[in-house]
Amino acid sequence: MITKKMAQALNSQLDKELYSAYLYLAMSSFATYKGLKGSANWFMVQYQEEMTHAMKFYDYILSQGEHAQLGSIAAPPAEFGSLLMMFEQTLEHEKFITKSINELVEVAMSEKDHATQIFLQWFVTEQIEEEGNDNEIISKLQLVGDSGAGLLMIDAELATRIFTPPAAGQM
Ligand code: FEO
Repeated sequence: MITKKMAQALNSQLDKELYSAYLYLAMSSFATYKGLKGSANWFMVQYQEEMTHAMKFYDYILSQGEHAQLGSIAAPPAEFGSLLMMFEQTLEHEKFITKSINELVEVAMSEKDHATQIFLQWFVTEQIEEEGNDNEIISKLQLVGDSGAGLLMIDAELATRIFTPPAAGQM
C-alpha cells in the first residue's frame, strides 16, 4: 500500500506523462506538416513511449490499492520552429520531467515507501537515456546548421527509430 500523499504525487506524474505524450504527438504532426517524415517518426515513437510511461504509473497506483485519477491535460503548442528548436524544447521538457521524478523519489523516501522507490528507479534510469538521446541529436543538428543536405541526412536517421512495446508484465 501507499500513502495518500504518495498516491497524489504519483497521480500528478501520470498527468505529466500524458502531457508528454500529447506534446510529442503535436511535434510529430508539425514535423509531418513540414515534410520531415523521419523526425515525425521519431516523435511518434516518443509519443508511444510516453503512453507506456503513463500506463506504468496508472497500473502501479491501482496495484497499490489507490485510485488512478486523470487530471486535465493542457493543449501543447501547435508550432515549434526549426528541427533544432524542436529538440531543444524536447530536452527542456525532459529536464522538467527528470526534476519531477527526482521529487517523487524524495516523497517516497520521506514516506519511507521502499516499494515506490524501487518502482521509480526505472524512471530515473530512463530519464538519463532520454536526456542523452536529445543531447546527441541536438549536437548533430548544431553541426549541420542550415545545411539542407545535412538536415535531410539527420531526418533519414530519425526515420529508423522503432517503438518497442514493453514486455508482458513490465508495463
Ligand atoms: Fe516519460 Fe520522456 O519521460
